[in-house]
Amino acid sequence: MKTLSSKELVDEVKPILERFRPERAALIPILQQVQAKLGYLPREAMLETAHFLDIPASTIYGVATFFNEFRFVPLGRRPVKVCMGTACHMRGGELVMEALERELEIKVGEVTPDGEYSLDRVACIGCCVMAPVVVIGEEIHPRMTPFKVEEMLAITRQDNTQAGPPE
Ligand code: FES
Repeated sequence: MKTLSSKELVDEVKPILERFRPERAALIPILQQVQAKLGYLPREAMLETAHFLDIPASTIYGVATFFNEFRFVPLGRRPVKVCMGTACHMRGGELVMEALERELEIKVGEVTPDGEYSLDRVACIGCCVMAPVVVIGEEIHPRMTPFKVEEMLAITRQDNTQAGPPE
């Protein structure tokens, strides 16, 4: 997704706000819809939401940071998601996450400096028999181990080279 200006971000958020009454109970659904549309919660969206609901922006930020599902930087061109559902967690999902953090040199919730990879945790994606599972873009990588992480990323980087430079 191309980078939007502050005005464009506000223009994206306004139609979402119009679907709701300006009451505090709408906060989480608004944030969920903004993230579904933009892929993250930009500062502009939180300020606009604060204005709409007439509550302090710091409250919005506090609520948003409480929940793991929200992110505050745009996704990378190749979003990496590590399943942390029960089956994946039990079969080493946390170790796979640590290996990805080492390999990508970022922490969960961050994006690599070149904007290529973002790293996030997700709840069960419904293929527990293949646990632990990592999803890169649309592609599911089953039965991951920390040792397979380097090879998996090398393959995705190779695919990227063949696909040509990013837009
Ligand atoms: S717990 Fe990971 S796919 Fe279900």
